[in-house]
Amino acid sequence: MARLDDHIEKILFQPDELNVKVKELGAQISKDYKGKHINIVVILRGAFVFCADLIRYIDADISVGFMVVSSYGGGTKTSGNVRIIKDLQKNIEGEDVILVEDIVDTGLTISHLKDLLSTRHPASLKVCSLLSKPSCRRVDVIVDYLGFEVPDEFVVGYGLDYEQNYRQLPYIGVMKPSAIKVKHGGTKADGSSTKDCS
Ligand code: IMP
Repeated sequence: MARLDDHIEKILFQPDELNVKVKELGAQISKDYKGKHINIVVILRGAFVFCADLIRYIDADISVGFMVVSSYGGGTKTSGNVRIIKDLQKNIEGEDVILVEDIVDTGLTISHLKDLLSTRHPASLKVCSLLSKPSCRRVDVIVDYLGFEVPDEFVVGYGLDYEQNYRQLPYIGVMKPSAIKVKHGGTKADGSSTKDCS
């Protein structure tokens, strides 16, 4: 995928590292939910690749639901405004729910979703996220199942996008500032990488 690879400054996690971690998360969830039925709620769109792999490592009864949420109006900075574009169709009252997210950055999205789903009285509500940027937090959130922590840099691949591109990269990498600048048609005065929480 040379065209997309050219826009990547460095690779943080190769496909085999991702696979090992996803397998570990699946094993932990299988152990914790032994004998239970899990309602997996995939936060679209970024988490779809991660979750597709994750459920294949979960040895428990599951059902899968989807929510489409938007907090980025394009670009690399969160708007802080979480919009529910598509809600769950299923009633989750009395159910064990795991929210599956690609990355917890400011924490605003997951915090908003937890608050919303809590009002529907699930038996339990946990969060599984492949990535976390702890340095960017604006609200405290507990990530019950976490893959990796990443630095304050904009990452793409394995489902994560920049303006809807790069989701199909099999690895997770940091974008070149030039790739971001070109798309925005401008440059940052200090020439530094565009970051999402600075
Ligand atoms: P939060 O509400 O700031 O925690 O942002 C969560 C959402 O922002 C994630 O589900 C992603 O869709 C998006 N996001 C945050 N950081 C990145 C990044 O580095 N790359 C791609 N998407 C990101």
